[in-house]
Amino acid sequence: MQDRCAEKVALVTGAAGGIGEAIVRRLAAEGATVVVTDLDADRCEKLAGEVPGNALGRRLDVTDETAWEALVTEVTERLGGLSVLVNNAGIATMNTVETETQETWDRVIGVTQTGVWLGMKHGGPAIERTGGGSIVNVASIFGTVGGFGAQFSYHAAKGAVRLMTKNAALHWAKRGVRVNSLHPGFIETPLSRELWRGTPRLTAMIEGTPLGRLGTTAEVAAAVAFLASDDAGFMTGSELYVDGGWTAR
Ligand SMILES: NC(=O)c1ccc[n+]([C@@H]2O[C@H](COP(=O)([O-])OP(=O)(O)OC[C@H]3O[C@@H](n4cnc5c(N)ncnc54)[C@H](O)[C@@H]3O)[C@@H](O)[C@H]2O)c1
Repeated sequence: MQDRCAEKVALVTGAAGGIGEAIVRRLAAEGATVVVTDLDADRCEKLAGEVPGNALGRRLDVTDETAWEALVTEVTERLGGLSVLVNNAGIATMNTVETETQETWDRVIGVTQTGVWLGMKHGGPAIERTGGGSIVNVASIFGTVGGFGAQFSYHAAKGAVRLMTKNAALHWAKRGVRVNSLHPGFIETPLSRELWRGTPRLTAMIEGTPLGRLGTTAEVAAAVAFLASDDAGFMTGSELYVDGGWTAR
């Protein structure tokens, strides 16, 4: 394993989930001090204790601006700064444009879109003060194409993440903060394995993916580590697809 993230402090949201955990493990393996955040503090502390380095586990509800301010302050004081922010938390429903309700819309947009904005709003200046670094916004192929004509609010939020990324990238371009979006295709996680097992949707996802399989969380995490590292030093405002060729069709 390379040590491309040595001396970097990286905050990951939604880190107790399938992809988030893999990102935490990969960034820590590459030398980062990782701040592991999610809704369940115990799970975050447990994961932080399992990875190399002086990782911290903290509860962070990404929709709570006061909590963002407090955590970014704590991290910069305790760990000497922040160099990488991975906005990974996201939720979805299966609702369509017709069945979406105000309540489900607000919930999905709140976590998946507003949460990313709040992360950038408070994490970006901290990264700039630390001397520069990288924000990785985990979007989705569903932020770019219409998918199966369902998960309406999720598509809305991920599409917004894709464009918020470009706008923020231009805002910070001269100030050392790179911002890129990462677009996973269909990734096998403990949750998705349960959700999709034996369903026609699983068959459609595999058959629609040119590489003919689901992606792994490790493959997503490897791309995050690249964008977080100085190897991606000339990348900002970009979209990186880890989708087995799904959007190439
Ligand atoms: N799994 C896939 O196939 C896939 C594909 C494309 C994109 N993605 C995206 O990757 C990211 C991770 O997905 P995953 O598959 O690991 O999902 P997951 O459900 O396993 O993990 C999501 C995590 O976000 C956390 N979370 C929910 N609400 C939160 C809030 N308000 N504040 C903080 N954390 C909150 C959950 O507790 C959970 O641990 C998401 O943004 C998702 O949209 C996943």
